Amino acid sequence: MQDLPNLILVGPMGAGKSTIGRLLAAELSRDFQDSDHEIQARCGADIPWIFDVEGESGFRQREAQVIEALTEREGVVIATGGGAVLREDNRRRLRERGTVIYLFTTVEQQLKRVAKDRNRPLLQRGDREQLLRDMFALRDPLYRATADVVVRTDRRSPRAVVNEIVRRVERLIDPLQAKA
Ligand code: S3P
Repeated sequence: MQDLPNLILVGPMGAGKSTIGRLLAAELSRDFQDSDHEIQARCGADIPWIFDVEGESGFRQREAQVIEALTEREGVVIATGGGAVLREDNRRRLRERGTVIYLFTTVEQQLKRVAKDRNRPLLQRGDREQLLRDMFALRDPLYRATADVVVRTDRRSPRAVVNEIVRRVERLIDPLQAKA
């Protein structure tokens, strides 16, 4: 892929955005950027601390600034946090500044992947399954409205998901030359 746009991964917690993003970037010899890592690096504190001290709204503010900065770059692979699509300004930026890939994941799969997680403040507030179901109901339409491509991730290896992303994006960019 030569004239590669930014490839931006959206999707819920436990979708594998960081793992798949890193693999995808290596496959395409591109830089990988992870918005949660960037937020923590800029702030010098981890995400639970930011939520504790500044609340979710403080975190969302920082997240919007980082999305603005990361999407200004060119030809990079970006993994976003699960709540990045909540703000309209983020959704617009993501759509305008890259090809957006929604890593679709079932709540069952998410539950397996985040079972022992202590670093995601939104999951420490009660019945994890119900929290994830409520988030899915709110966010799945937002992920879909933002994405150019939806890729299923449950019960598939990161490598298989990466191969599908590359195929689908090639087809988007150059429908005539891409292999069927
Ligand atoms: C969040 C997801 C997390 C992180 C923060 C909030 C969310 O990122 O940004 O805990 O609102 O879904 P991951 O999707 O990488 O876990």
